[in-house]
Amino acid sequence: MCYLFDSLLANGLLRRGDRIAVAVPIFSPYLEIPNLERYAFDIVRIDASERREDGTQRRGDGSHTWQYPDAEIDKVADPSVKALVLVNPSNPPSVAMRPATLERLARIVRTRRPDLIVITDDVYATFVEGFRSVFAALPRNTVACIRSRSISAAPAGAWASSRSTRTTCSMPRCGGAPPAAATPRCCSIHAS
Ligand SMILES: Cc1ncc(COP(=O)(O)O)c(C=O)c1O
Repeated sequence: MCYLFDSLLANGLLRRGDRIAVAVPIFSPYLEIPNLERYAFDIVRIDASERREDGTQRRGDGSHTWQYPDAEIDKVADPSVKALVLVNPSNPPSVAMRPATLERLARIVRTRRPDLIVITDDVYATFVEGFRSVFAALPRNTVACIRSRSISAAPAGAWASSRSTRTTCSMPRCGGAPPAAATPRCCSIHAS
């Protein structure tokens, strides 16, 4: 994400202090990275706050659908919002944006925000049957669609096995020992 923000700044597509929308809940580093000194982005949260209403909601009661209410998605219609960052399917819930919301977002962008920059992290795409990315709906606006080789290759299992039995990295072309300090990308499963 730092690389992407650095690139967007270097190319003049974003400026330090710009307003960006961040869909939440989200992979926690993505909450912190936009606040780094070199970005100082002004964050607008798009909150997946929809709940199944039965009038008895309490925190942690399982009523969250992890979907975005229309009013939350509509925040990107504001022209001061330069970019949208989202994880879809979300992290931690692993819930994909529902098709009607994806269509609403696409319609807003097509009709009112053709300039909106979209960064979508789809590393959990394979967790949801029939998943459709924002990238597919908004190919002209999506500057990056993030996927993770380690997550696609089931890192949890690899990590558990490395803890108990392995002393070398199982990723192709690596085979190195788990690193002590600097972490090559292919060894990140060992560094978790
Ligand atoms: C949404 C999301 N994006 C990116 C990453 C980083 O993946 P990698 O293992 O490729 O560094 C994670 C890791 O948990 C994640 O949850």
